[in-house]
Amino acid sequence: MVGAGYVGLATAACLAHLGHRVVCADVVEEKIAALSDGIIPIVEEGLDDLVSEGLTSGRLSFVVGASGAAKGAEVVFLCVPTPQRSDGSADMSFIEAAAREIAPVLASESIVVNKSTVPVGSARVVEEFLRRVDVAVVSNPEFLREGSAIHDFLNPDRIVIGADDREAAMRVAALYSGLGAPLVITDPASAETIKYASNAFLATKISFVNTVANVCEAVGADVHDVILGIGYDTRIGFEFLKPGPGWGGSCFPKDTLAMVRIAEDAGYDFRFLKGVIEVNEEQKDIMVGKIRRAAGGSLAGVTIALWGLTFKARTDDVRDSPAISIGSRLIAEGAAVRAYDPTFANAASGHADRGRSPNLEVLPGALICADPYGAVEGARVLAVLTEWEELKRLDFSKVHELMAEPHVIDGRNLLNGAALKRLGFSYVGVGRS
Ligand code: UGA
Repeated sequence: MVGAGYVGLATAACLAHLGHRVVCADVVEEKIAALSDGIIPIVEEGLDDLVSEGLTSGRLSFVVGASGAAKGAEVVFLCVPTPQRSDGSADMSFIEAAAREIAPVLASESIVVNKSTVPVGSARVVEEFLRRVDVAVVSNPEFLREGSAIHDFLNPDRIVIGADDREAAMRVAALYSGLGAPLVITDPASAETIKYASNAFLATKISFVNTVANVCEAVGADVHDVILGIGYDTRIGFEFLKPGPGWGGSCFPKDTLAMVRIAEDAGYDFRFLKGVIEVNEEQKDIMVGKIRRAAGGSLAGVTIALWGLTFKARTDDVRDSPAISIGSRLIAEGAAVRAYDPTFANAASGHADRGRSPNLEVLPGALICADPYGAVEGARVLAVLTEWEELKRLDFSKVHELMAEPHVIDGRNLLNGAALKRLGFSYVGVGRS
């Protein structure tokens, strides 16, 4: 496994759990040292247990440098980042560096599997970097969600394998045997397109429901009842139809832009997907507008409390988080922002978390508080931006007492609006009154 990020680490731990012998490499020495001691640098449910299981059984080990992991391996997974370049395209330099490094040590008849999200046609590019005719290159995109990556790996909806060499495809498929998932075996370009199309479609569903929520607000309908009413139609379903402050994270924003770019490079103007992205940007403006209105029309000098900074609950990841983007806009308009997120609570109270560095620079200009009550002290508006379950169970009479004015903007429809109104709060959700 080349790369011990979210995808590489989860994949390595799960493959070891399935009985394979896995050597996982990364370039960051401290990360490898910590992992070898069973210290996990990210929050991912169940990952700690699987890593310690792998270390104890001896089926999972960690090394510095790709070639150490690739040497003698039958299958080498590339799980390195493909960050976004300023023009929206994916930066392939990490893939290139990894491929060039492993090329001389690859065993004959081994398989290089691309798990990183890469532009269509990348399998061919990797072949060129490798220059090894005796090594097959296979595309095997991942569909793991942060926060439930282990569950998703062990209970996949499907396994997608793109290869020109059928035998190589079947050898990769065999690694997942026992998971009982449907297999989609196709050519590399189709597999790569499946990855982008999946993320683009999921982002589309969320942008769709966010626009429906906006219509609901305008016409006095309740988006939850609307979702219930449409979701029972099995052609529509209930999944990925939760309205919110917009989608974020390390995948949807990057992959939707990359897909627009890939289409453009191939001569197709993907206007539809551009619209989906535009709706997502507007959703953040709409949230800021709601907060500004609750504050009385201007944010200058107003104290605003934010609950939630990560791009979704059950992760410690703030990459492209709508909460960060909304918080920054509030600060730019002169608000004094006090923020609470369970992820940064320890760091805020001065205790560095085991193996993780306290990151109080997560939202520059904001005060990061150690508990949710501290964040609401003197605030005129409280905005809920991440759906952390623990926020539901707080003492809202105390919250009411601590706030300067009792206005709640619930960007995730997380709280019980009716109960809050009974306590004297003004409450604004998404797509419902
Ligand atoms: C996403 C995909 O769901 C995975 O299948 C994929 O493997 C992964 O990207 C990837 O390409 O690596 P992830 O970024 O971890 O996974 O997060 P999601 O759970 O998909 O959520 C993305 C964003 O959409 C979050 O900001 C979340 O709050 C938002 N969201 C999600 C909604 O606003 N409403 C929903 O109903 C669902």
